[in-house]
Amino acid sequence: MPSRSLSAREAVQQLNSSTIREVANAGMGRKDVVAFWFGEPDQVTPEFIRAAAVDALNAGDTFYTQNLGITPLREAIADYVSALHGQTSPDNIAVTNSGMSALMITTQALVGPGDRVVIVTPLWPNLVEIPKILGAESVTFPLTFSTDGWNLDMERLLTELTPDTRAVYINSPNNPTGWTIDVESQRAILEHCRRHGIWILADDAYERLYFGNDAGLAPSFLGIAEPDDRLVSTNTFSKAWQMTGWRLGWIVLPRELAPGVATLIEYNTSCAPGFIQSAGVTAILEGEDAVLQFNARLKRARDFLMEQLAQLPEVETSLPSGAMYAFFRIPGAQDSLEFCKNLVNSTGLGLAPGIAFGPEGEGFVRWCFAASEERLAKGLERLRLARGMP
Ligand SMILES: Cc1ncc(COP(=O)(O)O)c(C=O)c1O
Repeated sequence: MPSRSLSAREAVQQLNSSTIREVANAGMGRKDVVAFWFGEPDQVTPEFIRAAAVDALNAGDTFYTQNLGITPLREAIADYVSALHGQTSPDNIAVTNSGMSALMITTQALVGPGDRVVIVTPLWPNLVEIPKILGAESVTFPLTFSTDGWNLDMERLLTELTPDTRAVYINSPNNPTGWTIDVESQRAILEHCRRHGIWILADDAYERLYFGNDAGLAPSFLGIAEPDDRLVSTNTFSKAWQMTGWRLGWIVLPRELAPGVATLIEYNTSCAPGFIQSAGVTAILEGEDAVLQFNARLKRARDFLMEQLAQLPEVETSLPSGAMYAFFRIPGAQDSLEFCKNLVNSTGLGLAPGIAFGPEGEGFVRWCFAASEERLAKGLERLRLARGMP
């Protein structure tokens, strides 16, 4: 008898669903909730970017584009990446409908059933789930936590990157911990991966939301790699340009990989919307000040939140050097999902449970600090209340 099941195939049913959503669903729709559970800014996209999209629409930009993106956008991104990391050509750029789509398409291009993918965690869950959709094995490699920060045990990671490993996925600055990899560690990983033919997928979504230098630029594998290295960097307009709802991203890739990626874009979305790509050109060409301003706002918000959290007894945290999250251990959150559900029900404070980012995140909660000081203060008041503090 043929199977009559109407459910998705087994591998899809086995995927973890988002526990952040589970908490949010419990609290969304309530007017009094102060939510910091999702990773997005609390302000709209800068006006000059919105105006560029409106202009493009009014000019009739409503048609399909090339799979890899319109030439002006590929050129603008290539110049931008060249200025940050060294010579990059438009042939090395693929435009995608979001950073998420960049990750999915890159994985489709590189990873097949049974392949072994090593992923540094705790991590935004999507990266761990994507290889599983394609029948690959996701092997997680945990960072270790101390109040001095999150730490990568390089020797152990290199042992884990066995010659039969297809790819290693590293997100830095990291969601949720704010951990940022240093260039010496990148060199060690790159050399090891060269030796064994392992692909590096660098998720650089937060590279401009780094607080360790004036340029607001985290160390990148792109800065040390050669054109023939097995390196792909994925990126997005969502965070640095505050464009989460637009769904626009890109991939920096070896030019030999571009035709395969173009085909995959054809069979996923065919192309990103033209008027959104036009706005992307404006964001890149005219957006540097806006990126730096957003970075400075986030840094102020981080400092304010971390200072306040440090005053709460028994809260253990470390200063995030990038991204937009405080990730901290708090008494009572041993079951972080239950804790966050109770928190939203009892006080209307919305945080993301650490378990959403892997087992090593259990006991922690994540707080997105891309918010005004006023809203952060309101959230802190509720957290104090929940802990029985005045
Ligand atoms: C680590 C990381 N990578 C990629 C993305 C993708 O962002 P988007 O799909 O909005 O471009 C996110 C979004 O939260 C993220 O946290």
